[in-house]
Amino acid sequence: MTILVTGGAGFIGSNFVLDWLAQSDEPVINLDALTYAGNLENLAALDGDTRHTFIKGSIDDFDLVSRLLAEHQPRAVVNFAAESHVDRSIHGPEDFIQTNIVGTFRLLEAVRAYYGQLGNEAKNAFRFLHVSTDEVYGSLAKDDPAFTETHRYEPNSPYSASKAASDHLVRAYHHTYGLPVLTTNCSNNYGPYHFPEKLIPLVIHNALAGKPLPIYGDGQQIRDWLYVKDHCSAIRRVLEAGKLGEVYNVGGWNEKPNLDVVHTLCAILDELSPRADGHSYKAQITFVQDRPGHDRRYAIDASKLERELGWKPAETFETGIRKTVQWYLDNQAWVANVTSGAYKQWVGKQYGSCT
Ligand code: NAD
Ligand code: DAU
Repeated sequence: MTILVTGGAGFIGSNFVLDWLAQSDEPVINLDALTYAGNLENLAALDGDTRHTFIKGSIDDFDLVSRLLAEHQPRAVVNFAAESHVDRSIHGPEDFIQTNIVGTFRLLEAVRAYYGQLGNEAKNAFRFLHVSTDEVYGSLAKDDPAFTETHRYEPNSPYSASKAASDHLVRAYHHTYGLPVLTTNCSNNYGPYHFPEKLIPLVIHNALAGKPLPIYGDGQQIRDWLYVKDHCSAIRRVLEAGKLGEVYNVGGWNEKPNLDVVHTLCAILDELSPRADGHSYKAQITFVQDRPGHDRRYAIDASKLERELGWKPAETFETGIRKTVQWYLDNQAWVANVTSGAYKQWVGKQYGSCT
């Protein structure tokens, strides 16, 4: 048996592939376009491991995906491939439409054709798992209940709108063509291999580099944080036991205002890698212009996943964030490699003179 993973060189995808092969010998075919966010260094531990086959290519390439499916006969496809950064989607939505909508559509078309010619036993075993986000549900007010799976879709950014469209396509392929799909909608992840354009790795990187820690607006926007390895275990569980056509929200019950997250990061860094001048890294906090259309609060109600499939996160925010800071301290070479070249242009465009 084999699974096909798309986007497996990105942040969550690479953690998923590493965890999968640490727990099972089932081979992984990893299809990734290696955009700025894809990095084979994340998978260096698998060099020479015959259970992992990497293919550089796009999910919007119907012929390539069809060829891979025919050649490797996977029993499941897990779709991580996406453009994932909200700020980039505001600067330039087109790539998000192409990969997240057109790409998901072409992938579904290739999978539909492959599924259609499988024998009954293989058909019964086959799964298409689509990895999505809580951002499709829009923004919550302070006292609103957390998002459940039946919450209305109200995406507010080009990124979340493109993910919402992909979720609808996945749903439609189940209802119309009987494709055995599963969808997971997860809250904000953090952990190893997180690209330093996102809040947590950006703050760790800038703090250590003596640069400003940019806080959008008043810093009181709330995100619901989940350690990436818990997201991976949730996906494995849904793949194993999820009900066909169902949606599962994934979250860690860890709502935090952004400013609190940054204060926590500064406190851990003050302890593990203090500034030479003895001051706290908090001195580097800088309030900058808010993100246009910035969603105020996300919160995931993950009780369906716990009740029906028995999944719970292993990490609290406190344990996960400490592991994460330690990982970045121990992997400064990885950070140095991903923050050269194109990364510098992005930071200049997004933050101007602030960084
Ligand atoms: P990421 O940006 O770190 O990685 C995305 C990966 O997809 C990269 O390796 C990239 O090269 C690859 N890719 C991009 N376009 C492709 C294409 N056309 N064909 C093949 N590969 C392509 O993203 P991430 O944070 O790892 O997110 C993975 C998935 O999880 C995304 O679908 C995202 O929407 C979803 N998600 C992310 C979070 C989060 O907090 N990061 C939370 C919930 C859901
Ligand atoms: O909720 C799940 C989503 O989480 C995923 O679907 C996305 O792929 C992922 O990128 C993430 O989106 P966010 O926009 O929430 O993550 P980001 O790390 O970009 O920002 C987290 C919060 O921090 C958000 O309120 C914006 C704020 N922020 C971000 C950056 C990069 C800042 O205040 N300053 C910054 O420099």
